Amino acid sequence: MFENKCFFSLVTLHAIQSRKKMKSVLVTGCAGFIGSTLCETLLTQGYQVVGIDNFDPFYPRSVKEKNLETCLSNESFKFYEGDISDKATLRKINERVDAVIHLAAKVGVRPSLFHPHEYIQTNITGTQNILDWMKEKAVSKMVFASSSSVYGNETAVPFSESAIVDHPISPYAATKKAGELLNYTYHSLYQFDIVNLRFFTVYGERQRPDLAIHKFVDAIFKKQPITMFGEGKTSRDYTYVQDTVMGIIGALNYVSANKNIFEVANLGNSSPVSLKELVATIYELMDAQPNVCYEPKQAGDVDVTFADISKAKKLFGYQPQTNLRQGLKKFIDWYITQQIN
Ligand SMILES: NC(=O)c1ccc[n+]([C@@H]2O[C@H](COP(=O)([O-])OP(=O)(O)OC[C@H]3O[C@@H](n4cnc5c(N)ncnc54)[C@H](O)[C@@H]3O)[C@@H](O)[C@H]2O)c1
Repeated sequence: MFENKCFFSLVTLHAIQSRKKMKSVLVTGCAGFIGSTLCETLLTQGYQVVGIDNFDPFYPRSVKEKNLETCLSNESFKFYEGDISDKATLRKINERVDAVIHLAAKVGVRPSLFHPHEYIQTNITGTQNILDWMKEKAVSKMVFASSSSVYGNETAVPFSESAIVDHPISPYAATKKAGELLNYTYHSLYQFDIVNLRFFTVYGERQRPDLAIHKFVDAIFKKQPITMFGEGKTSRDYTYVQDTVMGIIGALNYVSANKNIFEVANLGNSSPVSLKELVATIYELMDAQPNVCYEPKQAGDVDVTFADISKAKKLFGYQPQTNLRQGLKKFIDWYITQQIN
């Protein structure tokens, strides 16, 4: 009896493992901050991962190559260097995948004011190309990286997915909203199952060098002053990267297991912190004396982001685990290790 039970559980375990092994995903933007962290977690969970990235020069290629090192050493990972706005490049991807996690984008709110066409090229044309590639390859499941920026200067907090998001205040935000709409169109026309995830200021190890926390830690480490825009009154719903990654995988499981799905869900921390408080906490954690320059608020910057995360919780069990203090500590430790090595 005991032997039988053991045999049964071994068979069950094997069946679960081989089913997992069969799971394969295409991750666009795989060399980036969130993409590389996500790919590593997917590989750990037994997925076959195909990644595409064009090493967009928004920040140095060497940083993105380093992000990808662990993935490239895993035989379940296949990498394509290429631009999603080029259809011919996408056609070279012939691996069979069950789903697409579409993260590749021209990022950054402020730079989008100066190069809007580049944002349209990657974030709108590129997204359309990904949808067309999926249609050609008969892949119908997608998780898409949208952004809290689509809420613009929404005043009703916390931000709910049911809010009308027709007033983006930067080209970046407008392209993210456009991506959400294109996804709906392919859901409607071709029954694609899609979750548009709105990320809220993601931070943690490998965070993009253009983002505030990375810039502040870098300046403090180098004993330089930091620049605070808008008197530090703006606030953000900072979300630790591993929490975002678990939310993405939750959404992936949700689209994989269900049919006739089109959803929009916030992935935030639901706990906004003012810029002033963020800066004070970083100085305290780095044991440094505050040295701050003040500049006026920048065009395109929203006043507040604050996610209602009850929908993501209900649909796929999203529950952030890391508070800002814990996450900042992890980021600072990682940053210092990078400086030493
Ligand atoms: N980090 C955040 O706080 C945040 C917040 C909201 C939304 N998002 C979204 O999450 C996604 C990932 O963001 P991230 O912070 O990891 O940024 P990132 O810049 O680190 O990653 C994006 C990756 O996409 C790649 N890429 C850009 N254009 C491409 C193209 N044409 N073809 C192929 N690859 C291309 C880049 O080289 C980069 O590696 C993006 O869609 C971004 O808009 C991020």
